[in-house]
Amino acid sequence: MKGLILSGGKGTRLRPLTVTGAKQLVPVANKPVIFYAIEDLVEAGISEIGIVIGDTGDQVRAAIGDGSAFGARVTYIPQDAPRGLAHGVMISRDFLGDDRFVLFLGDNFIRDGIVPLVEEFRTGSANCQILLYRVSNPEAFGVADLRGNRVVKVVEKPKIPPSDLALIGIYMFDHHVFDAIREIRPSARGELEITDTIQVLIDQGFDVVPKVIAGWWIDTGKHADMLEANRLILETQEPAMLGRVDEGSQIYGRVVVQRGAEIRNSVIRGPAIIGEDTRIIDSYVGPFSSIYHHCLVQGSEIEHSIILEHSQIVDVPHRIEESLIGRYVEISRSPIKPRAYKLWLGDFTKVGIL
Ligand code: G1P
Repeated sequence: MKGLILSGGKGTRLRPLTVTGAKQLVPVANKPVIFYAIEDLVEAGISEIGIVIGDTGDQVRAAIGDGSAFGARVTYIPQDAPRGLAHGVMISRDFLGDDRFVLFLGDNFIRDGIVPLVEEFRTGSANCQILLYRVSNPEAFGVADLRGNRVVKVVEKPKIPPSDLALIGIYMFDHHVFDAIREIRPSARGELEITDTIQVLIDQGFDVVPKVIAGWWIDTGKHADMLEANRLILETQEPAMLGRVDEGSQIYGRVVVQRGAEIRNSVIRGPAIIGEDTRIIDSYVGPFSSIYHHCLVQGSEIEHSIILEHSQIVDVPHRIEESLIGRYVEISRSPIKPRAYKLWLGDFTKVGIL
């Protein structure tokens, strides 16, 4: 079997982080989101992986390379514009050939991986396998309607959902999917929808098997989901100490301190991760915080947040919480009079002040 990861898309719901960076490279527990998808595929025995890339393709290529670091062989497939998930599949026809494959959206997370699901599809006769998860807001997703263990209908973001079963962005197909894509037309949002493609397979009598997933699933498309994925991953991490902690510091719970990091006169309360060459000085880092590499947190308190590389938080008088902070950001107190907020903020930025 092969794997196909979609990593195009504009990531508008994650702006401003995605104004310059790929949403699939935003780190969760200090690891780019898309790496989890690659690891899930490799764990399931799939090492031939195609990655569909868009505008941010160069960054994605630079981060993943030829895939050998993951034990995979990666082929990049450029998509000229975000024309839908089914379009991503169609342009990957040559790469996929007639093999059965897993389509994995690069911003989807699934707690328990996909090993048994892939095994069942690999050895079974189903033409398509969809994964479903019970959610409280099905109207935000593709939704499936089941009769017993049969899928009768799948519909993309319905106003009145037929059930609470959301389609997870991990699908398995055989080669019949290519004919089905030829039958569909762009949706109201102008995209070739994979959901419509699955409906064609159902209508034509192909065997579409539903699997309702019990462990958590998260689509990290929005800020709150990103923080939630971060929280869930950090809760399961094994503590590790690869950096330096001085005697004036205290570390509690599941904390990972990565290589070259330095903790001085600070309290870190896990679960949390401190990235490579990051310095935490005279500060408090609270639960569910991921601070990426080459950052500085000094004289400040931070909790339940993700901070990207090379950012600095210095002498901030109030605790920072539930925040997503991009690359090379500086937050500090200005000693210069008049005492005022002095902000250089990019497009689509959101700031909550006290
Ligand atoms: C896409 C699919 C949707 C699915 C979701 C899962 O939505 O169209 O059916 O439920 O991924 O993440 P999108 O993220 O493109 O809005």
